[in-house]
Amino acid sequence: MSQLINQAQQYTPGGVHSPVRACTGMGVAPLFLTHATGPYVVDHQGQQYVDYICGFGPTILGHGHPAISKAVTQQAQQGLVYGISDVKAPILSQYICEAFPSVEQVRLMNSGTEACMTAVRLARAATQRPKVIKFEGTYHGHHDAFLVSAGSGAMNTVSTSGVTVGATQDTVLLPFNDIVAVEQAFKTDPKAFAAIMIEPIAGNMGMILPKTGYLKALRQLCDQYGVMLIFDEVMTGFRVAYGGASVHYDIRPDLVVLGKVIGGGLPIGAVAGPRAILSLLAPIGPVYQAGTFSANPMSLSAGIATFQQLQVQGVYEGLTSYANALCEGLVKCSAACDVPLQCVSLGGMLGLFFSEQPVECLTDAQASNLDQFKLFYRTMREQGVLWPPSPYEAFFIGTQHDDETLRKTLEAARYAFKACSISEGVH
Ligand SMILES: Cc1ncc(COP(=O)(O)O)c(C=O)c1O
Repeated sequence: MSQLINQAQQYTPGGVHSPVRACTGMGVAPLFLTHATGPYVVDHQGQQYVDYICGFGPTILGHGHPAISKAVTQQAQQGLVYGISDVKAPILSQYICEAFPSVEQVRLMNSGTEACMTAVRLARAATQRPKVIKFEGTYHGHHDAFLVSAGSGAMNTVSTSGVTVGATQDTVLLPFNDIVAVEQAFKTDPKAFAAIMIEPIAGNMGMILPKTGYLKALRQLCDQYGVMLIFDEVMTGFRVAYGGASVHYDIRPDLVVLGKVIGGGLPIGAVAGPRAILSLLAPIGPVYQAGTFSANPMSLSAGIATFQQLQVQGVYEGLTSYANALCEGLVKCSAACDVPLQCVSLGGMLGLFFSEQPVECLTDAQASNLDQFKLFYRTMREQGVLWPPSPYEAFFIGTQHDDETLRKTLEAARYAFKACSISEGVH
């Protein structure tokens, strides 16, 4: 093991500052990077990889985009954090509000976790009800109330360890994509639910699309029972479409939670919705929320530079066409090796499962061939292509992925699927 990894493990639990980076379950050492450019990242031994992690979503314009670099460099010379509102805060807020038909106001904060936590607090204050529906395998940050069957890195842990029963007693866990389960819960306890919290496209148990009509049916049930529909678009926001899944599927959630892309690669989170609900927040309303680094000048400058680029014609068409080509290529390569594969994509987000059946919920995801994913991950990495090191993560594409990265990826994939088919033969 390298000296760097020893040093990391000596001073940090697991050697990492966020669990998925440890590559647990992939049977390989964690990576440490020195830098990243465009669609590539480079590790401390000088090995370059085509990057499909993209910071776990934020770097939709690739690494080191000139417009973002210029904006943050300029800002760094003018102050990093003021603790007083920056003139750029209303500009980023306006970009967000104008992207969603249902959004009039936004409160910026520092992470998706904070934003999800605040959205639920708002929903409880607005409805004066306690319970929140969360779906199996979704991830809404590491706030106590959501660490119940949580996805992403929490999938490998007893996610409620260290969390009191009290903190999760109002979280009601249901399967994703099962409208009857939601209807049943509402019928059983019609006045108990403040909100449904959902990733409209699940991205933290692998990528799973909502079934046709599912999100609309949730909207109708929420209207019928006076429950707030919260779309956690921390991952999907401005990634699957300008706006996000709510715009793509034409659904008006009561609150939208954002993060990742809107900060252009710097820390950010946001809760967005109608003025009537956002006005419940302090200093106008009784719901408290605050942050030293909220709407800090650095994140604002990176975020605004990103929005300016995202509004350029053809950005999402470009992401979609790359994702489609990658998906088709992967399916073709896997079929040639007799390896069953499900691959879905939307905008700059993509997911694959080693499964014969389409994957619609956590149970399906867990039934996919995890050993094959592991072998695929390792072989691709050896060939210089980096996926997230877990079958329970989505893959991300940026505007700087190009014909050359596609060619390299599919060349590596042919080799990796072959390795998967040989290993299946041996078993
Ligand atoms: C859907 C979703 N919600 C919330 C979060 C938490 O965001 P953060 O890591 O910025 O706290 C994530 C992080 O990956 C996410 O994917």
